[in-house]
Amino acid sequence: MRVISLAGSPRQPSRSTALLEVGERWLTARGVEVISYRLQDFAAEDLLFANFASPQLKQLIAQLESADGLIISTPVYKASFSGALKTLLDLLPERSLEHKVVLPLATAGSIGHMLAIDYALKPVLTSLKAQEVLQGVFADDTLVSDYQTFPPNLQPTLEERLLESLDNFYVALSRKPLIAARQRQTASV
Ligand SMILES: Cc1cc2nc3c(=O)[nH]c(=O)nc-3n(C[C@H](O)[C@H](O)[C@H](O)COP(=O)(O)O)c2cc1C
Repeated sequence: MRVISLAGSPRQPSRSTALLEVGERWLTARGVEVISYRLQDFAAEDLLFANFASPQLKQLIAQLESADGLIISTPVYKASFSGALKTLLDLLPERSLEHKVVLPLATAGSIGHMLAIDYALKPVLTSLKAQEVLQGVFADDTLVSDYQTFPPNLQPTLEERLLESLDNFYVALSRKPLIAARQRQTASV
């Protein structure tokens, strides 16, 4: 099983990235191969000026092709996901998330924006043809502290929700035909 993890905060250290890191370690401990990306892995000019020839972008696209799932994190900026993350998602081919299960994670200053994943991020993931976008995890800033180093301090209610979502993600990944198997099948017909 292979999963791409993508941190969509322009800032480091970052609360949303800290949640993602918990997810990355949880999945790795269960034998999932996790390939991790941060927005900072991409040159700002490539994102801003839509450089489709960016080597990092090409690598992400190639690795996405062979991945079974995506776990993606973002801060809420202006009632939506971060604009910097959008500049990256805009450069992905239209069917990039086909056959993939996606788990979104978001942190925000206010619980007033707890639906940002649903009304802003999910439509973009769906437009990339994600097979299944799971119920995401939303946390307001009061629930995540000491996130400068790993592990962050998560309030117990958040920790419980995050672990439950990771469990659901793992189960969803386990019940779908894995991409590697699908690619072998396609090659043999
Ligand atoms: C430019 C900017 C815009 C923000 N806009 C919102 C917002 O509209 N709603 C909200 O609830 N929080 C907003 N916040 C707060 C962040 O979403 C919150 O602190 C989040 O946890 C930051 O995540 P990060 O540490 O991963 O970057 C904003 C923060 C910044 C820096």
